[in-house]
Amino acid sequence: MRTFLDSVRDTLGKARHVVVFTGAGMSAESGIPTFRDALTGLWSQYEAERLATPEAFRRDPALVWGWYEWRRLRALQAQPHEGHVALAAIERHVGRMTLITQNVDDLHERAGSREVLHLHGSLHAPRCSRCGQAHALSTVWPGEPEGGRRLAPPACVACAAPVRPGVVWFGESLPADVLQRAAAAADDCDLWITVGTSGLVYPAAELPQRAARAGAQLVQINPQATPLDDWYAHRLRSSAATVLPQIAALLHEPG
Ligand code: APR
Repeated sequence: MRTFLDSVRDTLGKARHVVVFTGAGMSAESGIPTFRDALTGLWSQYEAERLATPEAFRRDPALVWGWYEWRRLRALQAQPHEGHVALAAIERHVGRMTLITQNVDDLHERAGSREVLHLHGSLHAPRCSRCGQAHALSTVWPGEPEGGRRLAPPACVACAAPVRPGVVWFGESLPADVLQRAAAAADDCDLWITVGTSGLVYPAAELPQRAARAGAQLVQINPQATPLDDWYAHRLRSSAATVLPQIAALLHEPG
């Protein structure tokens, strides 16, 4: 671990532009299950990939809206962990840092990170399924039972069509402006740190490969192996809340 941290300290100290790329594993130690953890309660008989689609929402809006509301409110109940706080500290101490996340919670923002690119949208940005009008939701936890329940989506205040979650579903395109900014960061950065993603979903998974081709040093923090391991000069088999505070601490060490 020390050799790894020594190497990262050197690169971090000299880095002009650091990119941190996070997935569901970044939120795991805040108590939010990763995307491929077994679903629980009402949704235990479904595959997440079967719920996170426009077809599922059209077929059964109450099932899909209930699932996302349960996830949104659980995200509101969760707290950022030391790894989220460490990333906000790193952002304040390096020349430039871009945080690209596949997560739809707001834990990075609540920990103080400023430039956060949400490739897959946000649980906290619902919008009309027809006219796109943003929809405001209460942030008060209604005391739902653990498993959540079916919930009819609210009607759009502008056109009365059903409101949908503000996330990117399977089969939908990523927000073009966000993807363009993330690709530009991959082309420009000199250090790329991936934390807590299985590297299975494209085009997000293409970004670290793009950074490697542009000459960046790649570091991965994940307790498990991933299909993209060979792209990483450093693969740390550890957790976000363990390693990121150690990396942030390097920035305060003399020399
Ligand atoms: N610290 C770091 N990594 C962790 C931790 C942890 N504490 N706990 C789990 N992990 C790792 C797992 O080993 C796994 O490789 O996090 C990864 C989580 O993988 P997924 O559940 O596949 O989540 P993710 O990679 O973010 O999925 C990408 O796919 O399903 C879509 O839109 C969804 O954004 C999601 C995307």
